[in-house]
Amino acid sequence: MSEATPVDGIQARVDELISRMTPAEKAGQLTQYFYFRLPAGAAPEPALGMDPDAQPRMVEEALGRGEVGSLLFVTDPVEINRLQRLGLAGNRLGIPLLFGFDVIHGLRTIFPVPIAMAASWDLETIERGQAIAAREARAVGIHWAFAPMVDIARDPRWGRIIEGAGEDPFLGAAVAVAQVRGFQGADIGQHDRIIAGPKHFVGYGAALGGRDYDEVSLSDAELWNTYFPPFNAAVEAGAGNVMTAYMDLNGIPASGTRWLFTEVLRDAWAFSGFVVSDANAVRNLVTHGFAADLTDAAARAISAGVDMEMAISDPAYAHLPEALQTGAVSEAALDAAARRILEMKVRLGLFDNPYVDEDRARVVLGDPEHREVARVAAERSAVLLRNEGDLLPLDVETLTSVAVIGPLADSRRDTLGPWVFDFDLDETVTVFDGIRRKVGSRVQVDFAAGIRVAQRVFASMFDMFGGNRPEDAPGFDEEAEFRRAVDLASSADVAVVVAGEWQNMIGEAASRSSLELPGRQLELLQAVVGTGTPTVLLVMNGRPVDLRWAAENVPAILDIWYPGSQGGAAVSNLLFGEVSPGGKLPFSWPRTVGQVPFVYSHTRSHEPDNQARRYWDEPSTPLFPFGHGLSYGKFSYSDLALDRASIPTDASVTVSVEVTNTSDREAAEVVQLYLHQRHGSASRPVRELKGFQRVTLPAHASERVQFTIGPDQRRYWSTSARNWVLDSSTFDVWIGGSSTAELTTTFETAD
Ligand code: BGC
Repeated sequence: MSEATPVDGIQARVDELISRMTPAEKAGQLTQYFYFRLPAGAAPEPALGMDPDAQPRMVEEALGRGEVGSLLFVTDPVEINRLQRLGLAGNRLGIPLLFGFDVIHGLRTIFPVPIAMAASWDLETIERGQAIAAREARAVGIHWAFAPMVDIARDPRWGRIIEGAGEDPFLGAAVAVAQVRGFQGADIGQHDRIIAGPKHFVGYGAALGGRDYDEVSLSDAELWNTYFPPFNAAVEAGAGNVMTAYMDLNGIPASGTRWLFTEVLRDAWAFSGFVVSDANAVRNLVTHGFAADLTDAAARAISAGVDMEMAISDPAYAHLPEALQTGAVSEAALDAAARRILEMKVRLGLFDNPYVDEDRARVVLGDPEHREVARVAAERSAVLLRNEGDLLPLDVETLTSVAVIGPLADSRRDTLGPWVFDFDLDETVTVFDGIRRKVGSRVQVDFAAGIRVAQRVFASMFDMFGGNRPEDAPGFDEEAEFRRAVDLASSADVAVVVAGEWQNMIGEAASRSSLELPGRQLELLQAVVGTGTPTVLLVMNGRPVDLRWAAENVPAILDIWYPGSQGGAAVSNLLFGEVSPGGKLPFSWPRTVGQVPFVYSHTRSHEPDNQARRYWDEPSTPLFPFGHGLSYGKFSYSDLALDRASIPTDASVTVSVEVTNTSDREAAEVVQLYLHQRHGSASRPVRELKGFQRVTLPAHASERVQFTIGPDQRRYWSTSARNWVLDSSTFDVWIGGSSTAELTTTFETAD
């Protein structure tokens, strides 16, 4: 069902409004303000000083003048209606406000973090998750998500790796499409859906040294082959918005790069939505040492193709009327941008129905079905990294006691992960809660934190929102608690240790120079394993951490990520075998921080068979490869077949394989296809993911899984040609359960 005005009426309505608007009113439509009361003492904006009311006051004044197009960071439907009323009262043309928010992995129902959702390789679950996030967001009055984040991340020091789909452009593109569909549905303006805004265009994940906001240098080949594809896919899926990126790209602030927003996004990809800057990124064109002043910044950004400025205070776009007068900006450019914003408002049906139903919001936010989907998502995203001697699943019939250890095992806030603000801690299920609820009546389940929470050296910018900075229990005695944890472990049948990073250690402005487990977690894990009690390690994380010791000494390692509201329920279902893990790594898991950036899809380069010459102190292989993930089932691959061994260069080949679950239990497997071009106009990666399917097979069942490899999967942007090429060549194909799949065949293409 569509709430929007039919397409024919949109243009006329927008034209009529534009013809009546002043330059200041148009600039207002292009301005988006944060709206929040800063906690006392927090003053991230020098322009606002220390007064917590300065920001809302400034926004309300602008609303009164009819000079605001959009607001962000309001999630209370009562407040949204109040601000919408204020905005409409101040706008002589009756133009409603658009409300945006970071709906990253759920609003009230919190889903596993995005990197976890990608680890499910389950596009249906990803789409359903974002559809629920959209439903909850729209119910409170939010019209637009600053998501999905589709930045390729190959350096886990970069904290925002958690917000994306990992290192691979093929997986990244597929996950981007699923998310856009989940948020938006088939078209903008659908009931219970919101606009999707893929971000940050482009290259943000390649920050120098993994340091957030630091500059990025990427060749054209890297941009076209690796960093653009998820954006291109999101645009083709109909995303209504794109957000710019903060950093300099190849020496120019990305947010001021016309080539990106006009030539690539609009001209090459026919993007018809609107572009928003990242927060303060237009104003910061001055900070970068690029624009001379705010007027110049505004002129450069809008001329580059940035339609709307996201600002905390003091927007550069307030200077657009001035830039118009000096001729730095044309009226056509201003009108084109304003048109795009107005068109979205019409398509969303906001002119006819600007308010939100506050009673319905409560009902939608409390929908128990949303929690069910979140639990299933957490089950499907967990990755079983190691399971020596089939320690997992645990058998509830033979167990008498479980020791649950580590501060993260019973931390509600950390179970949810970063980038959430509207959660309900009371309904959040920790790992300890989940295990107790599942087996507590039959098995003794005890918890010990064992060690203090670890802290960042520099505080997180999100700590000001309260509850984000981890705290020890009052009167915490670390030495006594450490002993208690080890005693509990030694007297239990099995120990479950939860270790990883506290949620404020990952995300925006949360990059690290090391990948070690923070605090005394490794020491605690070693002491628990040292008791001789069989130990399961649950990793709570959004980036790979250094697990070299664990990978040799802990028999079972399950990556549970930050699993969300129902995390503990999902984890206990996995531990006790109600469901089998089926997730796969969306990145290569390095052995050590010294190996990063690390990708499986590197080229062969010089002396590929002599990897010992790459580093002399560490193998040049990952600890766990891209695509790796075990299950409680066992899968075998056989009978890899091609329909033709030789095809014309522009034709497709069909590859199929027999996948068999040789175990006695139902389980899921992600069947992955990798391709390598042996020779051509550029050296091509040793392997590249070009197809995948997550299949669930009953015990001893087989399925024939089929893939098509068409010209689109073989075309690439070549530095030799400075263009797209489709070479005639010989191609190796591998199919299996990870990027180290061995079953292989070849085909040739020729003109
Ligand atoms: C982030 C964006 C986010 C925006 C609004 C910025 O700091 O980089 O990803 O959407 O804030 O919260």
